[in-house]
Amino acid sequence: MTLTPVSAFPDTSWDGAGPTRGVEPVVESGSVLSFPHLPFALSAAERKFLDPRWADGKAKNISVRWPADEMRGAIGDADDLTALKAMIVRYAEQSETLVRRLFPHYRAHLRRGNTSLRPFDVAGRQTNWRQDDTRLHIDSFPSNPMQGTRLLRVFCNVNPNGRPREWRVGEPFEAHARRYLPSIARPLPGSAWLLAKIGITKRRRTEYDHVMLQLHDRAKADATFQRDSPQARVAFAPGTTWVVYSDQVLHAAMSGQHMLEQTFYLEPEHQQQPEAAPRATLERLLGRELR
Ligand SMILES: [Fe+2]
Repeated sequence: MTLTPVSAFPDTSWDGAGPTRGVEPVVESGSVLSFPHLPFALSAAERKFLDPRWADGKAKNISVRWPADEMRGAIGDADDLTALKAMIVRYAEQSETLVRRLFPHYRAHLRRGNTSLRPFDVAGRQTNWRQDDTRLHIDSFPSNPMQGTRLLRVFCNVNPNGRPREWRVGEPFEAHARRYLPSIARPLPGSAWLLAKIGITKRRRTEYDHVMLQLHDRAKADATFQRDSPQARVAFAPGTTWVVYSDQVLHAAMSGQHMLEQTFYLEPEHQQQPEAAPRATLERLLGRELR
Protein backbone atom coordinates (compact mmCIF):
# COMPACT_ATOMS: atom_id res chain seq x y z
CA MET A 1 0.00 0.00 0.00
CA THR A 2 1.42 3.36 -1.01
CA LEU A 3 0.54 6.34 1.11
CA THR A 4 0.63 9.90 -0.10
CA PRO A 5 -0.13 11.57 3.19
CA VAL A 6 1.17 15.06 2.43
CA SER A 7 -0.34 17.77 0.23
CA ALA A 8 2.13 20.55 -0.58
CA PHE A 9 1.20 24.18 -1.25
CA PRO A 10 3.29 27.04 -2.66
CA ASP A 11 2.39 29.82 -0.19
CA THR A 12 5.19 32.20 0.79
CA SER A 13 3.15 34.46 3.06
CA TRP A 14 1.07 33.88 6.20
CA ASP A 15 -1.44 36.60 5.40
CA GLY A 16 -3.98 37.17 2.66
CA ALA A 17 -1.38 37.21 -0.11
CA GLY A 18 -1.85 33.47 0.29
CA PRO A 19 -2.79 32.11 -2.14
CA THR A 20 -4.24 28.86 -0.71
CA ARG A 21 -7.76 28.94 0.76
CA GLY A 22 -10.78 26.70 1.11
CA VAL A 23 -8.80 23.50 1.77
CA GLU A 24 -11.05 22.16 4.55
CA PRO A 25 -11.78 18.95 2.59
CA VAL A 26 -8.05 18.23 2.24
CA VAL A 27 -7.20 18.56 5.94
CA GLU A 28 -10.45 16.83 7.00
CA SER A 29 -9.61 13.83 4.83
CA GLY A 30 -6.51 13.25 6.97
CA SER A 31 -3.85 14.82 4.81
CA VAL A 32 -0.93 16.81 6.19
CA LEU A 33 -0.92 20.27 4.56
CA SER A 34 2.71 21.22 3.99
CA PHE A 35 3.99 24.70 3.14
CA PRO A 36 7.67 24.26 2.29
CA HIS A 37 8.17 27.98 1.57
CA LEU A 38 6.48 29.42 4.64
CA PRO A 39 9.14 30.14 7.28
CA PHE A 40 8.47 31.83 10.58
CA ALA A 41 10.86 34.79 10.47
CA LEU A 42 13.02 35.39 13.53
CA SER A 43 14.84 38.67 14.07
CA ALA A 44 18.61 38.58 14.70
CA ALA A 45 17.91 39.25 18.38
CA GLU A 46 15.44 36.35 18.58
CA ARG A 47 17.80 33.70 17.23
CA LYS A 48 19.35 33.26 20.67
CA PHE A 49 16.01 31.76 21.82
CA LEU A 50 16.72 28.67 19.70
CA ASP A 51 18.57 27.13 22.60
CA PRO A 52 17.37 24.70 25.30
CA ARG A 53 18.92 26.91 28.00
CA TRP A 54 15.73 29.04 28.04
CA ALA A 55 13.68 26.03 29.15
CA ASP A 56 13.27 25.49 32.88
CA GLY A 57 13.94 21.75 32.54
CA LYS A 58 10.63 20.69 34.12
CA ALA A 59 8.38 21.00 31.06
CA LYS A 60 9.43 19.70 27.66
CA ASN A 61 8.23 22.91 26.01
CA ILE A 62 8.05 26.64 26.62
CA SER A 63 4.41 27.54 26.14
CA VAL A 64 1.99 30.43 26.14
CA ARG A 65 -1.46 29.56 27.49
CA TRP A 66 -4.66 31.12 26.19
CA PRO A 67 -6.86 32.89 27.11
CA ALA A 68 -4.69 33.52 30.20
CA ASP A 69 -1.89 34.88 27.97
CA GLU A 70 0.85 33.62 30.33
CA MET A 71 4.14 31.95 29.51
CA ARG A 72 5.28 28.78 31.26
CA GLY A 73 8.41 26.69 31.27
CA ALA A 74 10.95 29.45 30.57
CA ILE A 75 13.80 30.89 32.65
CA GLY A 76 15.79 34.09 32.08
CA ASP A 77 15.82 37.75 33.04
CA ALA A 78 12.72 39.86 32.66
CA ASP A 79 13.69 41.59 29.41
CA ASP A 80 14.61 38.35 27.70
CA LEU A 81 11.42 36.65 28.86
CA THR A 82 9.37 39.55 27.50
CA ALA A 83 11.08 39.24 24.11
CA LEU A 84 10.75 35.45 24.11
CA LYS A 85 7.07 35.64 24.87
CA ALA A 86 6.55 38.27 22.15
CA MET A 87 8.10 35.88 19.63
CA ILE A 88 5.82 33.01 20.66
CA VAL A 89 2.75 35.27 20.64
CA ARG A 90 3.67 36.42 17.12
CA TYR A 91 3.70 32.79 16.05
CA ALA A 92 0.23 32.34 17.55
CA GLU A 93 -1.08 35.33 15.63
CA GLN A 94 0.49 34.34 12.31
CA SER A 95 -0.83 30.80 12.71
CA GLU A 96 -4.30 32.16 13.35
CA THR A 97 -4.09 34.37 10.27
CA LEU A 98 -3.05 31.34 8.26
CA VAL A 99 -5.77 28.95 9.41
CA ARG A 100 -8.49 31.58 9.01
CA ARG A 101 -7.42 31.95 5.40
CA LEU A 102 -6.98 28.23 4.72
CA PHE A 103 -10.27 27.29 6.38
CA PRO A 104 -12.84 30.09 6.00
CA HIS A 105 -15.56 27.65 7.02
CA TYR A 106 -14.03 27.43 10.53
CA ARG A 107 -13.49 31.15 11.08
CA ALA A 108 -16.21 31.89 13.62
CA HIS A 109 -15.62 28.65 15.52
CA LEU A 110 -11.87 28.13 16.02
CA ARG A 111 -10.57 28.44 19.57
CA ARG A 112 -6.91 29.14 20.22
CA GLY A 113 -5.14 26.57 22.40
CA ASN A 114 -1.56 26.59 23.68
CA THR A 115 1.37 27.90 21.67
CA SER A 116 4.67 26.15 22.26
CA LEU A 117 8.34 26.44 21.45
CA ARG A 118 9.98 23.02 21.49
CA PRO A 119 13.72 23.52 21.93
CA PHE A 120 14.82 19.96 22.64
CA ASP A 121 16.18 17.35 20.30
CA VAL A 122 13.49 14.74 19.59
CA ALA A 123 16.05 11.93 19.54
CA GLY A 124 17.50 12.61 22.98
CA ARG A 125 14.33 12.35 25.03
CA GLN A 126 14.17 9.58 27.61
CA THR A 127 10.57 8.53 28.05
CA ASN A 128 8.39 5.53 28.78
CA TRP A 129 6.59 3.86 25.91
CA ARG A 130 3.31 5.72 26.47
CA GLN A 131 5.03 9.11 26.18
CA ASP A 132 7.37 8.03 23.38
CA ASP A 133 6.32 10.18 20.42
CA THR A 134 8.77 8.41 18.09
CA ARG A 135 6.06 5.71 17.95
CA LEU A 136 3.13 6.19 15.57
CA HIS A 137 0.08 7.52 17.42
CA ILE A 138 -2.94 9.80 17.28
CA ASP A 139 -2.97 12.57 19.88
CA SER A 140 -5.07 11.75 22.93
CA PHE A 141 -4.30 12.84 26.47
CA PRO A 142 -5.19 10.98 29.69
CA SER A 143 -5.80 14.12 31.77
CA ASN A 144 -7.39 16.27 29.08
CA PRO A 145 -10.46 14.60 27.53
CA MET A 146 -11.45 16.26 24.25
CA GLN A 147 -15.01 14.84 24.21
CA GLY A 148 -14.91 14.95 20.40
CA THR A 149 -13.40 18.43 20.00
CA ARG A 150 -10.86 18.46 17.17
CA LEU A 151 -7.14 19.18 17.58
CA LEU A 152 -5.88 21.21 14.64
CA ARG A 153 -2.16 21.98 14.86
CA VAL A 154 0.18 24.32 13.01
CA PHE A 155 3.88 23.34 13.21
CA CYS A 156 6.92 25.20 11.90
CA ASN A 157 10.49 23.95 11.78
CA VAL A 158 12.71 26.85 12.91
CA ASN A 159 15.96 24.88 13.13
CA PRO A 160 18.86 27.28 12.40
CA ASN A 161 21.32 24.59 11.27
CA GLY A 162 19.49 23.12 8.30
CA ARG A 163 18.15 20.08 10.17
CA PRO A 164 14.80 18.70 9.00
CA ARG A 165 12.03 17.62 11.33
CA GLU A 166 11.42 14.01 10.36
CA TRP A 167 8.06 12.35 10.85
CA ARG A 168 6.53 9.04 10.03
CA VAL A 169 2.89 9.29 8.92
CA GLY A 170 0.74 6.18 9.19
CA GLU A 171 -2.43 4.55 7.90
CA PRO A 172 -5.77 6.41 7.51
CA PHE A 173 -7.81 6.84 10.70
CA GLU A 174 -10.62 4.49 9.69
CA ALA A 175 -8.22 1.65 8.87
CA HIS A 176 -6.49 2.28 12.18
CA ALA A 177 -9.76 2.19 14.10
CA ARG A 178 -10.78 -1.06 12.39
CA ARG A 179 -7.45 -2.60 13.41
CA TYR A 180 -8.00 -2.17 17.16
CA LEU A 181 -11.71 -1.53 17.80
CA PRO A 182 -12.68 -5.21 18.09
CA SER A 183 -10.31 -5.63 21.05
CA ILE A 184 -11.26 -2.45 22.94
CA ALA A 185 -13.65 -3.05 25.85
CA ARG A 186 -16.11 -0.48 27.14
CA PRO A 187 -14.95 1.61 30.12
CA LEU A 188 -15.83 0.32 33.56
CA PRO A 189 -19.12 1.74 34.87
CA GLY A 190 -18.42 4.75 37.08
CA SER A 191 -14.79 5.11 35.96
CA ALA A 192 -15.33 8.45 34.17
CA TRP A 193 -17.00 9.88 37.27
CA LEU A 194 -14.20 8.60 39.50
CA LEU A 195 -11.38 9.95 37.28
CA ALA A 196 -12.97 13.41 37.33
CA LYS A 197 -13.74 13.22 41.04
CA ILE A 198 -10.16 12.47 42.08
CA GLY A 199 -8.78 15.08 39.68
CA ILE A 200 -7.08 12.84 37.12
CA THR A 201 -9.18 14.30 34.32
CA LYS A 202 -10.01 17.98 33.79
CA ARG A 203 -13.51 17.09 32.61
CA ARG A 204 -15.47 13.88 32.12
CA ARG A 205 -13.70 11.21 30.08
CA THR A 206 -16.39 10.22 27.61
CA GLU A 207 -16.46 6.86 25.87
CA TYR A 208 -15.02 8.69 22.84
CA ASP A 209 -12.00 9.69 24.96
CA HIS A 210 -11.72 6.14 26.30
CA VAL A 211 -11.57 4.71 22.77
CA MET A 212 -9.12 7.37 21.54
CA LEU A 213 -6.82 6.75 24.51
CA GLN A 214 -6.98 3.02 23.85
CA LEU A 215 -6.09 3.58 20.18
CA HIS A 216 -3.14 5.75 21.26
CA ASP A 217 -1.89 3.14 23.72
CA ARG A 218 -2.52 0.05 21.59
CA ALA A 219 -0.59 1.55 18.68
CA LYS A 220 2.37 2.60 20.79
CA ALA A 221 2.56 -0.74 22.60
CA ASP A 222 2.39 -2.78 19.37
CA ALA A 223 5.92 -3.26 18.01
CA THR A 224 4.69 -5.19 14.98
CA PHE A 225 2.31 -2.39 14.07
CA GLN A 226 5.07 0.18 14.50
CA ARG A 227 7.39 -1.75 12.21
CA ASP A 228 5.11 -3.25 9.58
CA SER A 229 2.02 -1.04 9.18
CA PRO A 230 1.63 1.19 6.09
CA GLN A 231 3.63 4.34 6.66
CA ALA A 232 5.65 7.04 4.96
CA ARG A 233 8.67 9.04 6.08
CA VAL A 234 8.34 12.78 5.68
CA ALA A 235 11.11 15.34 6.20
CA PHE A 236 10.04 18.91 6.94
CA ALA A 237 12.99 21.15 6.12
CA PRO A 238 13.64 24.34 8.10
CA GLY A 239 11.30 27.04 6.84
CA THR A 240 8.46 24.53 6.38
CA THR A 241 5.09 25.00 8.07
CA TRP A 242 2.61 22.12 8.24
CA VAL A 243 -1.00 21.87 9.37
CA VAL A 244 -2.64 18.67 10.54
CA TYR A 245 -5.50 17.23 12.55
CA SER A 246 -3.27 15.43 15.05
CA ASP A 247 -6.21 13.53 16.60
CA GLN A 248 -6.78 11.88 13.20
CA VAL A 249 -3.43 11.53 11.46
CA LEU A 250 -1.11 8.78 12.73
CA HIS A 251 2.22 10.48 13.29
CA ALA A 252 5.60 9.92 14.93
CA ALA A 253 8.34 12.52 15.42
CA MET A 254 11.63 10.78 14.60
CA SER A 255 14.22 13.55 14.69
CA GLY A 256 14.73 17.28 14.68
CA GLN A 257 15.14 20.20 17.04
CA HIS A 258 13.56 23.65 17.39
CA MET A 259 9.95 23.81 16.39
CA LEU A 260 6.99 26.07 17.05
CA GLU A 261 3.49 24.67 17.43
CA GLN A 262 0.05 26.24 17.73
CA THR A 263 -3.03 24.24 18.69
CA PHE A 264 -6.58 25.18 17.67
CA TYR A 265 -9.78 23.55 18.87
CA LEU A 266 -12.81 23.07 16.66
CA GLU A 267 -16.11 21.37 17.43
CA PRO A 268 -16.64 18.69 14.76
CA GLU A 269 -20.09 19.99 13.81
CA HIS A 270 -18.30 23.04 12.38
CA GLN A 271 -16.25 20.96 9.97
CA GLN A 272 -17.18 21.17 6.32
CA GLN A 273 -17.60 17.37 6.41
CA PRO A 274 -18.54 16.52 10.03
CA GLU A 275 -18.83 12.85 9.08
CA ALA A 276 -15.05 12.73 8.54
CA ALA A 277 -14.32 13.48 12.23
CA PRO A 278 -12.87 10.69 14.40
CA ARG A 279 -15.92 10.59 16.65
CA ALA A 280 -18.31 10.24 13.70
CA THR A 281 -16.07 7.57 12.18
CA LEU A 282 -15.92 5.58 15.42
CA GLU A 283 -19.68 5.91 15.98
CA ARG A 284 -20.36 4.62 12.47
CA LEU A 285 -18.04 1.64 12.97
CA LEU A 286 -19.51 0.82 16.40
CA GLY A 287 -23.11 1.57 15.47
CA ARG A 288 -23.76 3.69 18.56
CA GLU A 289 -23.04 7.10 20.05
CA LEU A 290 -19.86 7.76 22.02
CA ARG A 291 -20.88 10.52 24.43
FE1 LIG B 1 1.57 13.58 18.74
